Amino acid sequence: MVTDLTNQAAAPPAAIQIANLSFAYHAKPALRDITLDLPTHQITALIGTSGSGKSTLLRCCNRINERIAGAHITAGSIHIHGIDINRPDIDLQELRRRVGMVFQKYNPFPKSIFENVVFSLRLSGVRKRSELDEAAERALHAAALWGEVKDRLDTSALGLSGGQQQRLCIARAIASQPDILLMDEPCAALDPIATLKIEELLHQLKQQFTIIIATHNMAQATRCADHTAFLYLGKLIEFAPTIQLFNTPHHPQTLAYVTGSFG
Ligand SMILES: Nc1ncnc2c1ncn2[C@@H]1O[C@H](COP(=O)(O)OP(=O)(O)OP(=O)(O)O)[C@@H](O)[C@H]1O
Ligand SMILES: [Mg+2]
Repeated sequence: MVTDLTNQAAAPPAAIQIANLSFAYHAKPALRDITLDLPTHQITALIGTSGSGKSTLLRCCNRINERIAGAHITAGSIHIHGIDINRPDIDLQELRRRVGMVFQKYNPFPKSIFENVVFSLRLSGVRKRSELDEAAERALHAAALWGEVKDRLDTSALGLSGGQQQRLCIARAIASQPDILLMDEPCAALDPIATLKIEELLHQLKQQFTIIIATHNMAQATRCADHTAFLYLGKLIEFAPTIQLFNTPHHPQTLAYVTGSFG
C-alpha cells in the first residue's frame, strides 16, 4: 500500500512522475509497480534496506540502467517535466545532461580539477576558453569548492581530500546545468565533517535543482530531505513529508524500519 500524505493542493508540480514502474534484471524483478511524484526544487530521500531498489530507481531516471545487460523496464513510465524519457526518440546524452548523477564512491577523472568540471561541456562541443572558465567557476562556487581550489585548478583532482573530490564530482555534475541531481549515497565514503559540508551544500543546491538522494543514513534523510520514500523489496511502501514519515508513519513496515526494529 502506498500512502501519499503530501498536500497535493500546496505541493509544487512534480519534476519527475513515476507511474506504475516495474523493472527487472533479466527475469528478476527489482522494482514493482512504483508510482511516485518527485517535487520540483525539493530534496527527496530514498530509504530502505540493502537491495530494496533505491539505486535501480535512481538509475531509471537517467536511463543508465540500460548499460547493464538484461536490465529493462517491464511496465510503467517515467515523465520528466512532462516528457516520457523512455520514448525511442529521446536523446540520451541530452537526458543525462539534464539529469546529473553523483555516486557513492567519488570518481573524479585522473585529470586536473578544471578539466573534471568542464568535462561534459567539452563533450558537448564547447571550445571557447572564457565560456569554460565561467562555467567552471560557477559550478565550483555552487559546489562550495571554489575557495579551496581556485589557486590550484590545473593540479590533479586526485590530490584533493575525499570530501573535496565528492564536491568536485557534484561540480562536474552541475556544470552542464542539469535540472535534476540524482545522488546515490553521496556521503557513504565520507567522514562526518565532510558529510555535513555536503548536507549544507544540498540545502543551497535545491534552490536550483530537484534532488533525489538514496541514503542508508536516516539522520541524513531527516536533516536534508523535504520528502522521504521508503522502499522494501522493490516496492514503494510509503512516501510522505520527511517529518511525517519518521514521526508518524502510516505503514507498520515503515515504523519498524525507522525505529530500527525491522527484520
Ligand atoms: N547490475 C545488477 N544485475 C543484477 N541484479 C541487480 C543489479 N543491480 C541491482 N540488482 C538487484 O536489484 C535489486 C535492487 O538493487 P539496488 O542496487 O537497486 O538496491 P539498493 O536499495 O540500492 O541497495 P543498497 O542499499 O545495497 O545500495 C537487488 O535485488 C539487487 O540484487
Ligand atoms: Mg544502492
